[in-house]
Amino acid sequence: MEVQFVESKNLKEKPTGALGFGKYYTDYMFVMDWDAGQEWHDARVVPYGPLEFDPASMVLHYAQETFEGMKAYRTKDGKVQLFRPEMNAKRFANSNKRLSMPTLPVDMFVEAVKTIVKYSEDWIPTGEGESLYIRPFMFATEAAIGVHAASHYKFMIICSPVGAYYAEGVNPVKIYVEDEYVRATKGGTGFTKCGGNYAGSLAAQVKAEELGYSQVLWLDGVHRKYIEEVGSMNVMFEIDNKIVTAPCEGTVLPGVTRDSILHILKDWGYEIEERHLSVDELMEAGHNGKLQEAWGTGTAAVISPIGELYYKGDKVTVSDFKTGELTQKLYDTLTGIQWGTIADPYGWTV
Ligand code: COI
Repeated sequence: MEVQFVESKNLKEKPTGALGFGKYYTDYMFVMDWDAGQEWHDARVVPYGPLEFDPASMVLHYAQETFEGMKAYRTKDGKVQLFRPEMNAKRFANSNKRLSMPTLPVDMFVEAVKTIVKYSEDWIPTGEGESLYIRPFMFATEAAIGVHAASHYKFMIICSPVGAYYAEGVNPVKIYVEDEYVRATKGGTGFTKCGGNYAGSLAAQVKAEELGYSQVLWLDGVHRKYIEEVGSMNVMFEIDNKIVTAPCEGTVLPGVTRDSILHILKDWGYEIEERHLSVDELMEAGHNGKLQEAWGTGTAAVISPIGELYYKGDKVTVSDFKTGELTQKLYDTLTGIQWGTIADPYGWTV
């Protein structure tokens, strides 16, 4: 891939102090265009800045938009690592297919990510738990308000130096089991990372926050009974020494962290049950002491322990509202591989 480079005349000051999540953006962004008949062209790295849009751009009306989330890590010996970038590339292609958008070959996606990370290298933070969050995304730019698959798109990557996703760090959160709104149904877009999924989830998030909860636990859209995800993360439970998580059957996002954690757990000898777990079974396991630990998995927060579940007036406390031993061990192992402080036995780091 040939990439044009436009140098920035105004390099920004690097942030000092707590980075938060998505507050700062690096000096450069990657841009590439797709037009029907021309495929991908004009790959470029340009100074980070606003875009000019036609108000009829289709993404603004019909939401043809997909994205990915990944990180670059600075190791103790100064190297820069990505984590399983080809998994993000494949998921991005699956999202794009579902939204009738053009796809990017896996190699091209990974090369684009490596390119922008190289131009953003001096922005990769080195503090405890800090990394460079990478946000590839694609959207329809065709100016047309008739509903159809657009014939012009942009693919871009922006990067943000980040600290912990949740201000509270790796600490248990209170979860509201959502019984009114649903996130996905079979045949829909639940397995994709498209902006629309997140827009549709906000009403439940706002409601949960108003009721004093951090996140919602999503139930399936048909029976309103089976557990699917937590907030914008996959969710796992340790019940009776087994690990239970929702299967990826079209409504759940196939998370890179989800897959990695399941691999590690299998290696540690855990029995994994990818199955439909009903909220009634979960609450009962909470009451009879069989629910040992519960956590969400995602790229942004890595692992987020669940300390309390609320469902229709019933409340369950998990692990005495402390970060469970297994949850902490999983966090330490995965982040150890990602930051290169422990050897990567899986060949996941690039
Ligand atoms: C993740 O990486 O866990 C997410 O999906 C959250 C992201 C949308 C900020």
